[in-house]
Amino acid sequence: MNEKILILDFGGQYKQLIARRVRECNVYCEIRPHTVSLEEIRAYAPKGIILTGGPNSVYADDSPTCDAALFAMGVPVLGICYGAQLMAHKLGGVVKTAPSSEYGHTELTVDVRNTEPKAGSGSTGCAYDSALFDGLRGRSVTWMSHTDYIAACPDGFTVTAHTDKCPVAAMEDASRGLYAVQFHPEVVHSEDGFALLRHFVRDICGCSGDWKMDSFTEDTILALREKIGSGKVLLGLSGGVDSSVAAALLSKAVGKQLTCVFVDHGLLRKNEGDEVEAVFGPKGSFDLNFVRVNAQERFYIKLAGITDPEMKRKIIGAEFIEVFEEEARKIGAVDFLAQGTIYPDVVESGTGAGGAVIKSHHNVGGLPDHVDFKEIIEPLRQLFKDEVREAGLKLGLPESLVRRQPFPGPGLGVRIVGDITAEKVRIVQEADYIFREELSKGGIDMSRGQFFAALTNMRSVGVMGDGRTYDYAVCLRGVITSDFMTAEAADIPWDILQTSMRRIIGEVKGVNRVVYDLTSTPPGTIELE
Ligand code: XMP
Repeated sequence: MNEKILILDFGGQYKQLIARRVRECNVYCEIRPHTVSLEEIRAYAPKGIILTGGPNSVYADDSPTCDAALFAMGVPVLGICYGAQLMAHKLGGVVKTAPSSEYGHTELTVDVRNTEPKAGSGSTGCAYDSALFDGLRGRSVTWMSHTDYIAACPDGFTVTAHTDKCPVAAMEDASRGLYAVQFHPEVVHSEDGFALLRHFVRDICGCSGDWKMDSFTEDTILALREKIGSGKVLLGLSGGVDSSVAAALLSKAVGKQLTCVFVDHGLLRKNEGDEVEAVFGPKGSFDLNFVRVNAQERFYIKLAGITDPEMKRKIIGAEFIEVFEEEARKIGAVDFLAQGTIYPDVVESGTGAGGAVIKSHHNVGGLPDHVDFKEIIEPLRQLFKDEVREAGLKLGLPESLVRRQPFPGPGLGVRIVGDITAEKVRIVQEADYIFREELSKGGIDMSRGQFFAALTNMRSVGVMGDGRTYDYAVCLRGVITSDFMTAEAADIPWDILQTSMRRIIGEVKGVNRVVYDLTSTPPGTIELE
């Protein structure tokens, strides 16, 4: 088993980011709720522990806390923000509430001797050699977000950094392996944040960096083979990255014991159904049973005249399950139902780590009721999205599939405002294809967010040739986002927008107007519905 770092969750919004950063250091980690017992922690055998931030104050009665014995386990601990304050509080230091919060980019001055000399840093009047800041810069910008602060360190600790407003921006007792930082090293705004985290997990905790995707795929294939034995596996393949990588892993593990059911609900992007079939179908390079269900008509009939966005989502979801179940019944009882659940789904759904439920994700809990199976297998449950992509490439999936932009489950159903018809689907598919083609030609990196065309429900008057038109307006949308919860409209070069507009109106029948959506998220959502 890999070397592991344990991240204890005290309610911080950046817990996933901390985990992400640790994984970027090729070190495996998992987020667990702060309520896990010391016995569970010992059994987990982490090489290091990170305490996350959180919105509470250590003095409030109902604040999340931990057993002080955690700090005497002989395992290095790094407390971040609330985690730092908790460490101070539990070990006899003083935490106070500041009259005003310290928020945003803040210059950090490191008060130790062994930081890399930097012109004008002037920070090293102290004789102390820090283990945590060893080799980092004497001054750097960090991201702060706190009201409480550590006013006095516990016995045995040394203050290793401060800011204008924060007397203890970092402290440590290296002899006990205890480190605390008030700032957030996990966010990109903290200039030396990643270097600090890397130094903590690799050097201080002594992790060698054994979490690599090629060993993950090899180990997982062997483990799946052992678990599945001669059993049958059923997987719903959407053509998205997660289910495709799950299919590739399972196919390498058990070949034809796997059946993948791909439901084309008629709301996919142009050519997408055929692309999925080219990879996983009989002419593709994977050994599995591939069942494509062309259910377009069924979905269009069910959706006819429905305009309410949530109703559309529900109908698409329910029909999807129904089609899937029909196919499953044809296959008969299976031993395993496989799903492409990934780690953020587990954390967001609050099912694995006991964290807060932010949104209940479609991959978790959205199980068919009438499929006869004994057990669920989720081979990607431990992976972040970029790790899934890397695993996909290692397994030989084409780059175009692995780098695919996220696409909502209800597909173009939430990109057509108002009721859905086959004609509207055709319009949005064609327009979307042209837009993405022009973006590719223009060298726009679409992996930085989502770029697509949607169809507004507006028809307006235009003129083409010598004739009057009364046609639909296509909306082009491009957003830059890393978390898909907040987003900014992409600054797409004018000539790309112009060429896209000209081509869409010229080539797509039924469109006479093209608009670009400038709305950020919030207040707008990424999808139009
Ligand atoms: P919104 O539109 O809420 O989208 O800003 C945020 C992210 O979620 C995707 N999305 C969905 N994904 N089922 C999904 O599987 C849905 O119903 C759904 N609605 C939105 C959207 O593409 C974006 O990445």
